[in-house]
Amino acid sequence: MGSEALVVDESLFLGKGSKRICYRHPEDASKCIKIDLNEKRKITPKELKYYQRYARKGVRFDLIAPYFGEVITNEGKGYVFSLARDYNGEISKDVRYYLKTCRNDEVLDDVFKGMLKLKRFMVSHGIMTTLVEHHNMIYQRITPHNGKVIFIDGIGNNQFFPSANYLQMHAKRVIRRKWFKFEQRLMKWNRDKPHIYERFKALNEART
Ligand SMILES: Nc1ncnc2c1ncn2[C@@H]1O[C@H](COP(=O)(O)OP(=O)(O)O)[C@@H](O)[C@H]1O
Ligand SMILES: [Mg+2]
Repeated sequence: MGSEALVVDESLFLGKGSKRICYRHPEDASKCIKIDLNEKRKITPKELKYYQRYARKGVRFDLIAPYFGEVITNEGKGYVFSLARDYNGEISKDVRYYLKTCRNDEVLDDVFKGMLKLKRFMVSHGIMTTLVEHHNMIYQRITPHNGKVIFIDGIGNNQFFPSANYLQMHAKRVIRRKWFKFEQRLMKWNRDKPHIYERFKALNEART
C-alpha cells in the first residue's frame, strides 16, 4: 500500500448498493474498490471473515469475486476485489441486466447454466449467503456464448443463531432455502415473461 490515498471519483463509479459504493480501481483495470457507506456497520469486514474461513478450507475463488486487501482512498477505507471483464474487455454485467435485456436463447441458457453451477458450488462447499439477488451476481462472458456466473455480494450468515457456521448439514439446508426463495421470487416477478419464468422454474427444480 502506498502512502498516498487512491483517488476515486465519479469517472470510476461502477455501482452502489444499500451498503457499499463500488469504483473501478484507478491503477488496475482488473480490480474494483468497495467502500462501506457506513464504516461502523463493518459490512465488508464481516463478509471477509467468511472469505477467510472458506480460503482456509481450500475453496477456490473462481465463482466468488476474489479479494485482494485494503487500500486508503479519498473516501475512506476501501476493499479491493477483482473486477470481472468479458472476453472483449467490457466490464461484465449483472444477471439482472441479462434477464431484462437478453433475447438470445443460447446466451440466456448459459446464464441459467451459470446460476445452477454457482448454486451447486455453494451447496457443496457450504458457502453461506445472507441473500441471493440477481443484481449481486455477475455474468462474465468468456466467449460470445459461454460464461460463468460470479457471486459479488452476500457472502455470510445472517441467521440469528448461526448454527450453520458449525454444522455442514444446516449450512446446506440454509443455502438451498436462500436459493429456493430467490427462484420463487423471480418466478413470481416474471409470471408474464415465459422465457424467464420457465428457466427459473427449471433452476428451482434442478437437483443440487
Ligand atoms: N466485482 C464487481 N464487478 C462489477 N461490478 C461490481 C462488482 N462489485 C460490485 N459491483 C457493482 O457495485 C454495486 C454495489 O456493490 P455491492 O457489493 O453489491 O454493494 P452492496 O453490498 O451495497 O449491495 C453492485 O450492485 C455492482 O453494480
Ligand atoms: Mg449488492
